[in-house]
Amino acid sequence: MKLWAYHIAANKLRTTHILSVETESPTVKIFTFKDKQCARAKPGQFLMLWIPSVDEIPLSILDAKENGMVSVAVRNVGEATGAFHNKRVGELVGVRGPFGNYFTLKGGRILMVSGGTGTAPILFLAERLAPKTAKLVFVLGAKTREELLFMNKSKRTLGGEKTQLIATTEDGSYGIKGLATKPLERLLERERFDMIYTCGPEQMMRKVFDLAEKYGVALEASLERLMRCAIGLCGSCVIGRYRVCKDGPVFTAKQLRKVKSEFGISKRNFNGRKISL
Ligand SMILES: Cc1cc2nc3c(=O)[nH]c(=O)nc-3n(C[C@H](O)[C@H](O)[C@H](O)COP(=O)(O)OP(=O)(O)OC[C@H]3O[C@@H](n4cnc5c(N)ncnc54)[C@H](O)[C@@H]3O)c2cc1C
Ligand code: FES
Repeated sequence: MKLWAYHIAANKLRTTHILSVETESPTVKIFTFKDKQCARAKPGQFLMLWIPSVDEIPLSILDAKENGMVSVAVRNVGEATGAFHNKRVGELVGVRGPFGNYFTLKGGRILMVSGGTGTAPILFLAERLAPKTAKLVFVLGAKTREELLFMNKSKRTLGGEKTQLIATTEDGSYGIKGLATKPLERLLERERFDMIYTCGPEQMMRKVFDLAEKYGVALEASLERLMRCAIGLCGSCVIGRYRVCKDGPVFTAKQLRKVKSEFGISKRNFNGRKISL
């Protein structure tokens, strides 16, 4: 398929039935549906999910299979995500996508750091990357044990000898007590990594970026901004010179250096006004 035809097809709204709903944590559910287009997505790409009569929201792709099955993990934070959480198997939703760029698939010694629903694209990446890596360390953070997402799936994906899973919780109810960034400095002091991949709260990613700079390790981070069109037209997702939907959501350390005054510090609200993160 020609590139322009691919983009037109991706942006066309398709309706699909929800095929399964799983409760992952008190605030997060995993929804699976069939969509041929998004089933071709690469780790890091996102889709726009339309909840009829409510809204359309951006969601990272958690899993995409050759048989057309696509999964997303959704935290209930407001109107659209709340309405989605009330949906049952068999109900209709709309899908556009996949959109945006994706993580580069690097072999070697890899460090992954994720927090909250940011674990979704990182876990998708880990599944594709694990067989190619010499070493893979996955640091997964959450506020509490209950909110540590995808622990079973992560243990399955990272079951090999070359892989290590480190969990952190802010209240110390599981794993290391503290933020996901807590074990990083020690890891980076002791071991050499070829690449760091990160997705999660932006202040967390900023700390990961600062440490990657300090230790001279390449980094890719997946960012979130308010999104409406998802195809680079409306400008609601800007960070500095970039549109997150089109130039991202995955950014390299080189790109992030150019938006250092905003990355992890501020974003724009629905009125386009800059607000602190
Ligand atoms: C590329 C990308 C990938 C994402 N992946 C996931 C994911 O895998 N799982 C997940 O649970 N969430 C993900 N989000 C965030 C998700 O899109 C928002 O939580 C959702 O749009 C909130 O909608 P709402 O109507 O429920 O909340 P609202 O009632 O509108 O607001 C609640 C909060 O959500 C934020 N928000 C509202 N609309 C958007 C929007 N269009 N884009 C970003 N933030 C918004 C607001 O700033 C506010 O803080 C992602 C966002 C982006 C940009
Ligand atoms: S969401 Fe419209 S330009 Fe990015």
